[in-house]
Amino acid sequence: ATGEVIVSTGELPDRDRVRGFVDDAHARFAGVDDGFVADYIPALAAADRHLFGLSMVAADGVSHDVGDAHHPFSIQSISKAFVYALVCQELGHEAVLDRIGVDGTGLPFDSVMALELNAGATMNPMVNAGALATTSLLPGATSVDKWEVLVSGLSAFAGRRLVVDEEVYASEAATNQRNQAIARLLQSYGTIYADPTETTDIYTRQCSLLVTAHDLAVMAATLADGGVNPVTRERVVDAAVCRAVLAALATSGLYEQSGRWLATIGLPGKSGVSGGIITVAPGKGGLATFSPPLDAAGNSVRGRLATRYLSQALGLNIF
Ligand code: DON
Repeated sequence: ATGEVIVSTGELPDRDRVRGFVDDAHARFAGVDDGFVADYIPALAAADRHLFGLSMVAADGVSHDVGDAHHPFSIQSISKAFVYALVCQELGHEAVLDRIGVDGTGLPFDSVMALELNAGATMNPMVNAGALATTSLLPGATSVDKWEVLVSGLSAFAGRRLVVDEEVYASEAATNQRNQAIARLLQSYGTIYADPTETTDIYTRQCSLLVTAHDLAVMAATLADGGVNPVTRERVVDAAVCRAVLAALATSGLYEQSGRWLATIGLPGKSGVSGGIITVAPGKGGLATFSPPLDAAGNSVRGRLATRYLSQALGLNIF
């Protein structure tokens, strides 16, 4: 991993080379068996730990899938990136940034305080408090309207109509007391912008949307392509919104490992507890990995290894 530095050229290598390296990444890490499948949402605990899929979609729409790249799983926290994009598109990213924040912690470097002692200000759109506040900003007079904006927007990123895994939704809805509490706490500070119960329900549904690694790679490639889905050619969000989203991912897409991710992989990314990770190589394409076992910070073990390998092999590191 610390070997030769391949400098980013501004272009993805030719498609045969990409194909070869993606296949190689799958073969190299398929045998890794570290990490634990998330079980705090009961329905996630049933996932097969051996599933492993990789998908790379170039900014010209050419895709390469290997392994379980068409196996459906719930999108979980990766949804936060795309809901943030929809809300920035609607309200303007400066206005959203002022309300939601975009810092690693939102606290001074030497602070021991958390949300409660930070006057209830959210920290960034990729952790639950900021993600709930972001979902609360979706346009629409009713929850049904807001949900339709969300699901049609994420579907445009994916290039197909996404549906909820009702079993995952019911399982998380029955066990999401912590998120309900965060939403109520935000309400007490005036930093959630719609009904907290309805917002938590929409957030829980957004996390339960079913995707495959291939879908996620198309969604990531849309962010890489300045907001145009490279497969359907539909413009989903403005280029300025993509830039705002990628900055938020670079800051906090991998939770407390965001700095290490940026230092070793050098690309904005977003993980989810069901085992997916998206990575965006601006102007070049989107990569998605799916493998359920997670490390201590909640990031997919094989996904991190495969992404680090491909960032290096394909010369994607933006630094
Ligand atoms: O809110 C939750 O707990 C889940 N719906 C999503 C968490 C998640 O994916 C965090 N990821 N690493």
